[in-house]
Amino acid sequence: DLVRSRGLGDVYKRQAIDGPAGAGKSSISKVVANELGYLYIDTGAMYRGVTWAVLDSHVDVKNQKDVESLLPSLDLTLEPTANACKVFVKGQDVTDLIRQQQINENVSTIASYKGVREYLVERQQAMAAVGGVILDGRDIGSVVLPKAELKIYLTASVDARAKRRWLEVQGTSNEQSLEDIKNNVESRDEMDKNRDESPLVCVEDAIVVDSSNMTFDETVEHILHLVQELSLIHI
Ligand code: DC
Repeated sequence: DLVRSRGLGDVYKRQAIDGPAGAGKSSISKVVANELGYLYIDTGAMYRGVTWAVLDSHVDVKNQKDVESLLPSLDLTLEPTANACKVFVKGQDVTDLIRQQQINENVSTIASYKGVREYLVERQQAMAAVGGVILDGRDIGSVVLPKAELKIYLTASVDARAKRRWLEVQGTSNEQSLEDIKNNVESRDEMDKNRDESPLVCVEDAIVVDSSNMTFDETVEHILHLVQELSLIHI
């Protein structure tokens, strides 16, 4: 409220939150965006949406050319709401379907393709152009919004990230063992950091936030403080 009432949220037109899988980027970004009255754009959901479309049309995930030839007729839309970013493919709401295990296993391959990245980055930049946005992903500070006013690299240990994801999926249809989740988190880290096209990096002008020993609320508070501090410097 302090941030909002002082209008500090307006100083930062575009915020980038990057980091590895399971660092809590989406849930943290959502709350920070709400606090600042910003729009939250989940770019990972877009890569997941493309992956869903690829699997749904029985295209071989490993065939880059076939995957990329799907793009012109993809019809992927993102509908940011207060609680979540809804994803539609050809009008079908796939918001829940893109969280399935099959998507987790294939999304890093799809996200490694140059054509897919160019297609989505262009859409992300168009959505961010209005300002007052927080985008989370892997390449926001480096590629999508290199001039973002605030860049955060949100990370946590592999164990902390796996445990959080495990707690998240308990009692849902996406339930999995902690061991499987840890393996998936590690292999996605590996692929996201080592791919040729816009790998996950911590850019020089990003502020690193390691949330391994922070609660959810502490992390949100910390980020809101960063917004406030930087706003004061700029005033
Ligand atoms: O954040 P997430 O787990 O929903 O992301 C899903 C995958 O998409 C992840 O393996 C990395 C990729 N991704 C990406 O390469 N670039 C982004 N800006 C966002 C996600």
